[in-house]
Amino acid sequence: MDEIVINGGKSLAGEVAISGAKNAALPMIAASILTGGVFSFSNVPALKDIKTILALISCLGAEVSREEDTAVIDTSNLSVFEAPYDLVRQMRASILVLGPLLARLKKARVSLPGGCAIGARPINLHLKGLARLGADIKLEHGYVEASADRLVGDEIFFDIPTVTGTENLMMAATLAKGTTVLRNAAREPEIVALADMLNNMGAEISDAGTPAITIRGVEGLNPVSAEIIPDRIEAGTYMVAGALTQGRVLIKDCEPDHLKAVISKLREAGADVSVSGKNIEVHGNTPIKSIDIKTLPYPGFPTDMQAQFMVLMAVAGGLSVISETVFENRFIHVSELKRMGTDIAISGSHAMVKGGKRLSGAPVMATDLRASASLVLAGLVAEGTTRISRIYHLDRGYERLEEKFSGLGADIRRVPGGGA
Ligand code: UD1
Repeated sequence: MDEIVINGGKSLAGEVAISGAKNAALPMIAASILTGGVFSFSNVPALKDIKTILALISCLGAEVSREEDTAVIDTSNLSVFEAPYDLVRQMRASILVLGPLLARLKKARVSLPGGCAIGARPINLHLKGLARLGADIKLEHGYVEASADRLVGDEIFFDIPTVTGTENLMMAATLAKGTTVLRNAAREPEIVALADMLNNMGAEISDAGTPAITIRGVEGLNPVSAEIIPDRIEAGTYMVAGALTQGRVLIKDCEPDHLKAVISKLREAGADVSVSGKNIEVHGNTPIKSIDIKTLPYPGFPTDMQAQFMVLMAVAGGLSVISETVFENRFIHVSELKRMGTDIAISGSHAMVKGGKRLSGAPVMATDLRASASLVLAGLVAEGTTRISRIYHLDRGYERLEEKFSGLGADIRRVPGGGA
């Protein structure tokens, strides 16, 4: 297996362009199931999770082709309603095909996503919502089996704002009879991007991006071309890298409006952050201060940036408390970060990070996507060499990571096969 090897201690400087957002591309690609025809997506990142959703959709009978950052999907002959275990187990977000399959083919059989490194991550709210729209739902042999001649709009109240749950229900409700209102809906920018695409297809969705989304069901939808929005978590990761290495990094082609919580926290930590159009510049010209962080659904501070900020707090001036409220068990990066010299204590959903530590390079193992990003950041600022194994987690969500960091002056390379 490949490894990433980093010789730390370089201050990063230069420009980095942000790729399309994985978490926006996945539901938008799933939305192409809703009607037959040719869809074209641009700014699609070259990532393992995108390969998985494209493999899944072609397994359902769509024709898929990719050239550079464009994916063309012809769903005219899509007729298979089963998403098999082998694909779903590779990526939990495969559950996003459930709503659209049910709406178009009147039935769906989707493998239940298995256990997950960052807690139970159930899909009960997706299923409860679909049942509320009239779907008959059974769990048999590890699969969700859903059927409905035609879904019927209703009011759905989510116990917790769930991102993919909101997306699944929004897609399913586009073709339902009557009006659906999703309450306590997630408000992430990726949900707004999906709603924009669905409205271009002929759906009637209003107030996406607020906690109450209204979807008036329509009789049919049309295929469209859509551009994937920039990846706010990739952008945030490079922003932290700039501050952490006391560098000067210009993050280009991003959407600063989607990064307000991250920008605000970086400024509070003492970094100089300036925004101009689609660019953000981070100048880490002063020592980092310790701050407290609490993850929340959007527009709060994103859980997908928690691990990266923990590394920043490990080198900051004092004591920081990081509270994770979105996922249980999302501190799995801590044990590896401790091997690099950080001083972090966990108590329930809180991590106490004693800053001012000098990190030292070590062999470490990636555990999940964002945890792996934190190890890369730690490696960039550590003394000596860090070798990160199991980097397939990184390849799920960071496009050309080592190339982008090298471009900023980091000493980072991928070593194929884990050899020297
Ligand atoms: C999405 C993102 C992921 C991000 C997360 C939170 C995608 C593909 N992934 O994941 O990167 O970390 O949002 O911002 O967009 N929950 C339930 N029952 C459900 C669904 C969720 O209890 O049916 C709980 C989860 O366990 C979690 C919380 O709700 O505690 C939020 O999870 P959710 O927003 O659903 O995360 P994902 O959509 O899986």
